[in-house]
Amino acid sequence: MINSSTKLVGLLGDPVEHSKSPLMHNAVLEKLGLNYRYLAFQVKSEEVKEALEGIRALGIKGVNVTIPHKEAVINNLDDLSKEAELIGAVNTIENKEGRLIGHNTDGQGFVRALAEEVGFSAQGKKILIIGAGGAAKAVAFQLGLEGADELYVANRTFETAANLASNLEEKLNLSKVEALRLEEEYLKNNLPKLDLIVDTTPIGMYPQIDVEPVIGDELIEKASLVTDLVYNPVETVLLKRAKKLGVKTVSGLGMLIYQGAIAFEIWTGQEADVETMKDAILSQLEIRN
Ligand SMILES: NC(=O)c1ccc[n+]([C@@H]2O[C@H](COP(=O)([O-])OP(=O)(O)OC[C@H]3O[C@@H](n4cnc5c(N)ncnc54)[C@H](OP(=O)(O)O)[C@@H]3O)[C@@H](O)[C@H]2O)c1
Repeated sequence: MINSSTKLVGLLGDPVEHSKSPLMHNAVLEKLGLNYRYLAFQVKSEEVKEALEGIRALGIKGVNVTIPHKEAVINNLDDLSKEAELIGAVNTIENKEGRLIGHNTDGQGFVRALAEEVGFSAQGKKILIIGAGGAAKAVAFQLGLEGADELYVANRTFETAANLASNLEEKLNLSKVEALRLEEEYLKNNLPKLDLIVDTTPIGMYPQIDVEPVIGDELIEKASLVTDLVYNPVETVLLKRAKKLGVKTVSGLGMLIYQGAIAFEIWTGQEADVETMKDAILSQLEIRN
C-alpha cells in the first residue's frame, strides 16, 4: 500500500521506457515488504541539474542513472565512491540526508556475478576485454581494483582502446595493460593463455541475435571463461560457441541483476533477493534461452 511513509527510488535517463529496472526493483521491494516504490523518470540533458535538486528537495532516497546522464550528473553531486571516481561515471545516486553520493555498481555487479555464478576471482588473472565503451570502462576498472594482473583491451577503434588502457595504467597499479587492435589473427597469435574474455560490444543483442561474434573459435579457446555483457538473449551466439568448445560461460544477466542488487543495498540497507530480481527480468525479455 502506498501511504505517507512510502519512500521513493527510481531511474533518471532518456529514454527510460525500455528499462528493466522498475519491474526488477519493485518486485524485490514487494517481496521483502519494504515501503518503497521505484519509478522511471525521463530527464532531458538540459534538466539534469534540476532533477538532482528535486531529489534533494523531495527526499527521494536514491536513483539509478542511465544513458545519457552517467557522466553529466557528476558535477552536481556532493561526493563520489572510489569506483565512480575512477570510472568517471555514476549509475547509482544515494541521498544521504540531503548529500548526494555517486556510486558506480556496474563493475561491482559484473565481478559479483562472476564470483557467485562460477567462483571466479580476478586476483592475479590475465584478462582480455573486447570493446572500450562505457561498460568496458566500468568492468576494466573493477577487474583492476580486484587485483587482475594483466588487462588487454581490444577495440574496433584502436584510439578508444588506447585511451582506456592509458587511463587504467595511470590510475591503477597493474602488472600489464595493453591496447590492441581487434584483429583475430593478431590476438590469437600474440596473447598468452587467458583466464577470462569479456565481450562488452552489443553484438548479438536482440533483435540481431544471429550476428557473428567479433572473435573466432581459436581465440575463444585461449580462455578458461568467456562472458558477454549482452543479456537479451541470455545465451548469445558467442556463449553458445564457447559452450560447444568446452569453455565455461557467464551471461550478462548476472551483471544486470547484481548492479541492481548493490544499488538496492545502498538505498535500503537490506540485502536484495536476487532470485526475485532475476525472475522479474526474465519475464520481460523477448528471448529467454
Ligand atoms: N549486463 C549489463 O548489466 C550491462 C551493463 C552495461 C552495458 N551492457 C551492454 O554492454 C554493451 C555495451 O554497452 P556500452 O554502454 O559500453 O556501449 P558503448 O559505450 O556504445 O560501447 C560499445 C563498444 O562496442 C564496440 N562495438 C559496437 N559495435 C561493434 C561492432 N559491430 N564491431 C566491433 N565493435 C563494436 C564499440 O567500438 P567502437 O569504439 O569502435 O565504436 C565500443 O567499444 C551493450 O550491449 C549494453 O547493453 C550490459
